[in-house]
Amino acid sequence: MDSRSFFSGVLICVLLNFASSVEAAPTGSLITELPGFNGVFPSNHHSGYITFDEKNLFYYFIVSERNPSKDPVVLWLNGGPGCSSFDGFVYEHGPFNFEQGKPNGSLPILHLNPYSWSKVSNIIYLDSPCGVGMSYSKNQSKYINDDLQTAADTHNFLLKVIHRLHTVCHQSILHRGRVLCGIYVPTLSAEVVKGIKAAQNPIINFKGYLIGNGVSHTKFDGLAALVPFAHGMGLVSDDMFEEVERACKGNYQNPIGSCSISIDKIDQALSGLNIYGILDPCYHDPTSDQHTERNTSSNLPISFQQLGATERPLKVRKRMFGRAWPLWAFEKDGNFPSWPELALQGSVPCVNDDVATAWLNDESVRKSIHAEPKSIAGPWEICSDRIDYRYGAGSMLPYHRNLTTQGYRALIYSGDHDMCVPFTGTQAWTRSLGYKIIDEWRSWVSNHQVAGYLQGYANNLTFLTIKV
Ligand SMILES: *[C@@H]1O[C@H](CO)[C@@H](O)[C@H](O)[C@H]1NC(C)=O
Ligand SMILES: *[C@@H]1O[C@H](CO)[C@@H](O)[C@H](O)[C@H]1NC(C)=O
Ligand SMILES: *[C@@H]1O[C@H](CO)[C@@H](O)[C@H](O)[C@H]1NC(C)=O
Ligand SMILES: *[C@@H]1O[C@H](CO)[C@@H](O)[C@H](O)[C@H]1NC(C)=O
Ligand SMILES: *[C@@H]1O[C@H](CO)[C@@H](O)[C@H](O)[C@H]1NC(C)=O
Repeated sequence: MDSRSFFSGVLICVLLNFASSVEAAPTGSLITELPGFNGVFPSNHHSGYITFDEKNLFYYFIVSERNPSKDPVVLWLNGGPGCSSFDGFVYEHGPFNFEQGKPNGSLPILHLNPYSWSKVSNIIYLDSPCGVGMSYSKNQSKYINDDLQTAADTHNFLLKVIHRLHTVCHQSILHRGRVLCGIYVPTLSAEVVKGIKAAQNPIINFKGYLIGNGVSHTKFDGLAALVPFAHGMGLVSDDMFEEVERACKGNYQNPIGSCSISIDKIDQALSGLNIYGILDPCYHDPTSDQHTERNTSSNLPISFQQLGATERPLKVRKRMFGRAWPLWAFEKDGNFPSWPELALQGSVPCVNDDVATAWLNDESVRKSIHAEPKSIAGPWEICSDRIDYRYGAGSMLPYHRNLTTQGYRALIYSGDHDMCVPFTGTQAWTRSLGYKIIDEWRSWVSNHQVAGYLQGYANNLTFLTIKV
């Protein structure tokens, strides 16, 4: 079977209120200069490690450029599992736009990003779980993680980083501030709520969470979402759609026989597209012929084959990796394949992580951001294969039901051209909760333009699409 690996972001954001002021040991880590950046920092940047249980978790914190004491504090985590939050920092919404270095191979040039989330929020980028990005341990067994351990560690990180940031920033900056976290799966929210109930210090006044293009439940994600998406987007014909519906009868969990054959046809039709944004161009490595023919002698993603190479122009904005989501695999308990294992199942087309790789592996950059050198923390990779990740939490639906019925707000959003975790699946699982519709499907508007659609449900649950 010709399989492709799908990668998606699973992230949740959490609104938190700091309700208590905290005494903490001063561990200041202000960033005073950044190689590649010659301008003036629009606000203070801090970075460093939070260490516990032999785990060194790396974070990069940016004070809001607007009103730090009123603005939310965002904790951002990329999914994967195993992908670094510097993906978000470099390619998505960080404070800088990274320009490929000139001449070839030199450090990237950093420009201020006018759309940085730091314009309106205090934001923490965390490399999690331990072993990802700049986060490391001297004890290899700390690279064994699962959903629940990761949630517990991230919660622990949050408690500790709140202590530290209270100290390194003016007390007033974070006092009564709010935290908005982009985090792995709703398991963290459950941890946070548990911590609140146990009156753990500092008390986090948890408000709610956001998830963007996140997988949630096998019944709704994967092929069940992809097939109607591909048809609706005009990527497969009516005939093919009818054929797969007939052959699979809505059961895509273990495609066999004619179901498998018709899915293969769909897979063929979709190959060559940028799965993270079907309208986006596909990045082609100029040094190989991979764009004309699927390279069967090496199934490694281009970004892995070329790790460290700096010759390619950054023509296409690289899309975020997220939790890997092989087309044929479904969320279940058990071991998550390592990235090389995943790569053997298929290629990850269209992505390029050169700029981030060049920048974050430069020792002077590491020194500036208070990250350990490669000799200690290891080389930075956008998605790490040194962690051994196991699922464990299963379906996310019980978490969502628990959190929303306890009064926490949830915004579940989808980029509507993402084929990795198509909105069709997300729409289906949010609907499946069976909450009363209180804001019926309608467009939402930004700058006098329709920016997407939303449906509001009871219990402060909103499903929303973002139009590209
Ligand atoms: C490494 O971590 C494991 C699991 O936490 C622990 O049992 C072991 O003692 C640690 N090894 C060292 C050398 O500290
Ligand atoms: C396929 O990949 C291998 C290993 O990266 C490379 O040597 C070979 O030239 C590639 N073939 C094509 C047709 O791109
Ligand atoms: C970088 O190197 C490639 C291949 O050697 C070359 O084609 C390209 O023009 C170079 N780009 C720059 C900006 O020097
Ligand atoms: C949901 O809440 C109940 C009651 O508080 C709890 O026992 C259960 O473990 C929770 N389930 C999840 C998945 O968080
Ligand atoms: C929805 O959120 C608002 C604002 O946080 C809150 O006042 C309200 O009680 C919530 N509604 C429900 C049904 O939880």
